[in-house]
Amino acid sequence: MRLNQCYNFHDFRKLAKQRLPGPIFDYIDGGADDEVTYKRNSEAFDGCDLLPSVLTGVENVDLSVTVMGQKLAMPVYCSPTALQRLFHHKGERAVAGAAEKYGTMFGVSSLGTVSLEEIAKQVDTPQVYQFYFHKDRGLNRAMMERAKAAGVQVMMLTVDSITGGNRERDLRTGFSIPFRLTLAGMMQFALKPMWGINYVIREKFSLPQLDAHIKMGSGTSSIGDYFTNMLDPSMNWLDVEEMVKFWDGEFCLKGIMTVEDAKRAVDIGCTGIVISNHGGRQLDGARSSFDQLAEIVDAVGDKIDVLFDSGVQRGTHVLKALSLGAKAVGIGRGYLYPLAAAGQAGVERALGLMEQELLRDMRLMGCQSIEQLSKANLRFR
Ligand code: FNR
Ligand code: LAC
Repeated sequence: MRLNQCYNFHDFRKLAKQRLPGPIFDYIDGGADDEVTYKRNSEAFDGCDLLPSVLTGVENVDLSVTVMGQKLAMPVYCSPTALQRLFHHKGERAVAGAAEKYGTMFGVSSLGTVSLEEIAKQVDTPQVYQFYFHKDRGLNRAMMERAKAAGVQVMMLTVDSITGGNRERDLRTGFSIPFRLTLAGMMQFALKPMWGINYVIREKFSLPQLDAHIKMGSGTSSIGDYFTNMLDPSMNWLDVEEMVKFWDGEFCLKGIMTVEDAKRAVDIGCTGIVISNHGGRQLDGARSSFDQLAEIVDAVGDKIDVLFDSGVQRGTHVLKALSLGAKAVGIGRGYLYPLAAAGQAGVERALGLMEQELLRDMRLMGCQSIEQLSKANLRFR
């Protein structure tokens, strides 16, 4: 299978699986526990149907949206994800370059493998910095100051990862950073020599957002250990209120799932929230984020920008979330498989196909602009 044979999420996933060593593919592909929430995330979109209008004159369709003060050419952005240089040697550089080409926003993770400063210099498109709240308060402040100095537009604090999700695929393969694999995991690496050659000859693996502060590079640490040892489980609303004040700019909480928490986010001065269950990677058995979207938008949608992610694979999924009032929609695996499959060209193809789907589906829905989408376009079964 090749890149020009990829037409949808599943095709990119297949190609990524061909290219990546098993343990790395499983890190991207997996969810927590029995992966129930992970599966439901995408299935939830099938619980409602789109109602198209006809004869509305749709020669010009405008996909642009403004979210947290950022003007995006399309309503889909690349949600921050960790460790991208493990998936393709260009990593964050490839994702940022593709996001810029399509005029959209992308995130750099605290666990990113290229520095937020380098990426901010490379591209001219809105950049999100995804923040994990560390036990070390000095580190937290230093990270925010760095992001400010680099000109990052949006701060995104992830609040659904107070401890690591139970990713049993990773336990089985021994996935950790740098690698400490089980024997079976090592065999999987031996089967993908191209990946191995790139890993060895390209720049050394590092976590530039954290390297100055922690010694993750020298030992091995699983993602679960990082959450357990480095992140602060006592993080609470007061801490975050202080952060919001300190940042003094666009600030959103990623991983909100209830109306009560959405209201508190408004109260402490956040300008956005992301309705998300982390792609089913944290609390298994959690409701799909699509099923929670409507009630949260109804409660706070006029006070704060509501963003949405988890489970999005199609243009029509995006239109359903926008119809319920999401201001923009994030994808994770939807650009990570393409990244693993073919680097920047892969992510560009995925975003290009998404743009074409959105344009086509907007026309078929009889809508010329995103504001025209509303609950009236949907019926739940
Ligand atoms: C993530 N996600 C994530 N979120 C975050 O806040 N910080 C991070 O470092 C990461 N890392 C990460 C790695 C990988 C491999 C995946 C798949 C996901 C979650 C991500 O931002 C987003 O919320 C989900 O991926 C959305 O679900 P879908 O689109 O993957 O179904
Ligand atoms: C993950 C973390 C890093 O989902 O957010 O793997």
